Amino acid sequence: MKNKISIIGAGMTGSTTALWLAERELADLVLVDILEGMPQGKALDMAEAMPIIGKDVEIVGANEYEATKDSDIIIITAGIPRKPGMSRDDLLNTNAEIVGTASSETLRHSPNAIFLVLTNPLDTMAYLTMKRNGLARERVIGQAGILDSARMSAFVAMETGVSVENIDCYVLGGHGDEMVPLTRHSNIAGVSLRDYLPADRLEAIIERTRKGGSEIVSLLKTGSAFYAPAAACAQMAEAILKDKKLIVPAAAYMQGEYGLNDMFFGVPVMLGANGMEKIIEYDLDEEEQAAFAQSAEVVKETHTALNKLVKI
Ligand code: APR
Repeated sequence: MKNKISIIGAGMTGSTTALWLAERELADLVLVDILEGMPQGKALDMAEAMPIIGKDVEIVGANEYEATKDSDIIIITAGIPRKPGMSRDDLLNTNAEIVGTASSETLRHSPNAIFLVLTNPLDTMAYLTMKRNGLARERVIGQAGILDSARMSAFVAMETGVSVENIDCYVLGGHGDEMVPLTRHSNIAGVSLRDYLPADRLEAIIERTRKGGSEIVSLLKTGSAFYAPAAACAQMAEAILKDKKLIVPAAAYMQGEYGLNDMFFGVPVMLGANGMEKIIEYDLDEEEQAAFAQSAEVVKETHTALNKLVKI
């Protein structure tokens, strides 16, 4: 039987995720959006591209959640994106309402699905999805760490001219300006970035990584990044459907790991058929621990704001 992935929100991120997924020929796809005709039109256009790239993927668009029935994975990208001058947290009120409904409605039709959440503020939207629906923590994963780490890797590649395939960067923590780029663990072909790059260049890369989302928002002016977030999401879906046991940075529900509890936070996780199968705990030095704690505080504040906003 073919797998099925439903993507809620067929905007820039949702439709680009569908395209990356279709290229992988992983599963049949459903695009859902509130805009009439839009998901249907994009799905049809994409279906018409399949003969060209030679992929047998069924892609349909819908305005109703019924079309998502029996999905293996639900990807939530519905919501509003950032505009210049907005923080991810500014999206909280609007997106909590949208993600709350989208997660409950899709769960009704796919009681066993695993949820990948991309809508911002990401860590808190994943928290909402899990709590509101009483889901096991394995079944809700937030996409952010792969993206933030890929941004850092891209900047390192631009700086050094080394192949992106040789560069492994690890950015953990919340998906905000307080994210934690781990320079000690990040490496180029096994050589720590701290040894490979002069300190001032490394610092500039860290700063650019932290502001990576804003850099794109201020260039685009009408929305936020979507190619790289969508690629990250497709990688996560593939790891789950193929039961790869792939370790990637992603937002997971913390139960004591890294000394954190009852919150989503970006950590290295193992992705397999059951979703988030394991959290890997790095040995952090004092400086890294302090950065983790600071980032966790910011995420907790947004969780608290959500708890005041809606009853979950
Ligand atoms: N149900 C389904 N779709 C919805 C709903 C809803 N209740 N509310 C809004 N949408 C749709 C919009 O119609 C739009 O097509 O969500 C889509 C969002 O797409 P874009 O506006 O293009 O935004 P995008 O760049 O894809 O970002 C979506 O992902 O990365 C995050 O911060 C980003 O929170 C934002 C989300």
